[in-house]
Amino acid sequence: MPVGVNYKWTDRGISPTITANTLERCKMRLEDKVAIITGGANGMGAEEARMFAREGATVVVADMRDEDGEAVVTQIAESGGTGVYVHTDVTSESDWQRLVDQTVSQFGKLNILVNNAGISSTAYADPMDIDGWTHIMDVNATGVFLGTRAAIPAMKEAGGGSIVNISSIMGFVGGEGGHPAYHASKGAVRIFTKAIAVKYGPDGIRANSVHPGFMPPMTTATPQRSQRDEHIRLTPLRRTGEVHEVANGVLFLASDEASFITATELVIDGGFISR
Ligand SMILES: NC(=O)c1ccc[n+]([C@@H]2O[C@H](COP(=O)([O-])OP(=O)(O)OC[C@H]3O[C@@H](n4cnc5c(N)ncnc54)[C@H](O)[C@@H]3O)[C@@H](O)[C@H]2O)c1
Repeated sequence: MPVGVNYKWTDRGISPTITANTLERCKMRLEDKVAIITGGANGMGAEEARMFAREGATVVVADMRDEDGEAVVTQIAESGGTGVYVHTDVTSESDWQRLVDQTVSQFGKLNILVNNAGISSTAYADPMDIDGWTHIMDVNATGVFLGTRAAIPAMKEAGGGSIVNISSIMGFVGGEGGHPAYHASKGAVRIFTKAIAVKYGPDGIRANSVHPGFMPPMTTATPQRSQRDEHIRLTPLRRTGEVHEVANGVLFLASDEASFITATELVIDGGFISR
């Protein structure tokens, strides 16, 4: 009997039933891929890490929240996947080099990079605070540049790769308040992604940006209840998103299913930005 197919007696004779196991075997969308996910200790990055591992990828979770990162890797192992946690500050050039070197030496290659780590702007009430500008741009924009720069040689070595950069709907507009650096950083990620896609397309490297709308708040954000209700009222689907709804989009762009998709923007926002 083939693995994953159960046979049971029915009034019409023997009937094969495909089990969940069979479906899993058919649906390994990242089989043999090695992926780095920054900010993978929490929120959307953690969901992407778990989802990628379920789809067959070896996942390297890169973050500064060591306990949470190790917990994600434990969850991955408990569900039969492969993952490691590597302490990484995305603003550090040397951390990036160590992360990519360790990934390649431990798992043989690097196929996918998800630049997801990011911080919100709510810690900086003054919109013209220079420290706010520098810190937010360092993490959200320079971190994406440094990661991409570190990953490209390894991806070339692997014969190509997929980079998915997490921007935001705030990378298109400037109207939601907070420090302008958040919008600027996410806009930078959006255009940087296109420039990388154009430059490294001939090497088989794809680069796309993902633009989540209103989601469970970032750990660095302090949203007001009334603001949240207003966002829901203005979202055509009348709710906030869930982390798996972003992870599904990231998974698609990372996978070979998106093999001819590069330099594009995937908005996952319940329709908010199109109002
Ligand atoms: N939550 C939202 O509503 C929302 C909406 C649009 C876009 N985004 C973007 O999605 C991404 C993920 O957001 P989230 O909601 O999961 O946030 P989160 O706060 O839950 O997770 C972000 C992760 O990034 C890590 N991180 C922060 N600075 C880092 C650094 N210097 N080096 C390494 N890791 C670092 C944090 O430790 C954390 O684990 C971010 O880039 C964010 O800007 C979030």
